[in-house]
Amino acid sequence: MSIVGATVNGIARVEIARPDKKNALTAAMYQSLADAIGAAHDDSSVRAIVIHGQKDVFTAGNDLEDFMKNPPADMNAPVFQFMQALGYSEKPVIAAVNGPAVGIGTTMLMHCDLVYCADNSVFSMPFVSLGLCPEFASSLLITLNAGYHKAVEKLLLADPISADEALEMKIVNRVLPRDDVFDFAIKQAERFNQLPPASVRTTKRLLRAGWKSMTEKIIADEANSFGAMVRSAEAKEAFSAFFERRKPDFSAFS
Ligand code: COA
Repeated sequence: MSIVGATVNGIARVEIARPDKKNALTAAMYQSLADAIGAAHDDSSVRAIVIHGQKDVFTAGNDLEDFMKNPPADMNAPVFQFMQALGYSEKPVIAAVNGPAVGIGTTMLMHCDLVYCADNSVFSMPFVSLGLCPEFASSLLITLNAGYHKAVEKLLLADPISADEALEMKIVNRVLPRDDVFDFAIKQAERFNQLPPASVRTTKRLLRAGWKSMTEKIIADEANSFGAMVRSAEAKEAFSAFFERRKPDFSAFS
């Protein structure tokens, strides 16, 4: 079981639990994440959802082997099911991040409502260095949060983002000592147990209404490009280089 769900005191805890592969996400794991969020939605005793990894890793992003063998076929692919469930969740979603949050590991945070991270967190969006492009509105949301020039550094050059920089860039709410992140996220989530749920749902919807249509448009645009690029020779070279533990060589491409 690489996705572990448990509901405790009104909070659906969703753990990404594949630590031997740094919690790299496969299609099957995306489906389990989508199902876990769907179950939390349907369970009227759940007031909020917490997504987390372990104390040294949130997720290394998409499993690169799975990308090579099983690239997302269309917008019904499990990764879309997950991101739709996350993006359209009526209940608040809180992320507790420790260690690396790579690729979709950073993108998904932009669709969460509250993000708490450890001082050992490192965020990155290495889509370009992998021969890919941004996904799930990260190109829009990072620009809205941090401004265009910062977005260029993080998306075109794929510079990693430390916990303090993530705070400056407004992609996390708070930086905490690594041992405290999960408990703090749970405490914040439990605050929703004391709030009127219909008011929480309506306010969340209104908070997002202004950029909803922009987000939907860019997600479709990114998906078109991403679908082609994940099958490209540039991406194959980048993925092979990762597993061969060498630098990719893009000199033959024009
Ligand atoms: N896909 C598939 N396997 C992955 C993976 C990924 N995204 N990330 C890590 N792994 C595997 C490694 O291949 C290794 O497997 P092995 O023990 O069988 O050789 C294991 O997880 C541990 O990874 P390792 O790189 O040795 O850990 P690290 O602590 O040195 O580095 C990361 C951690 C996350 C910084 C590094 O693994 C990394 O950069 N991963 C790729 C991230 C990425 O490009 N994601 C895709 C974004 S779209």
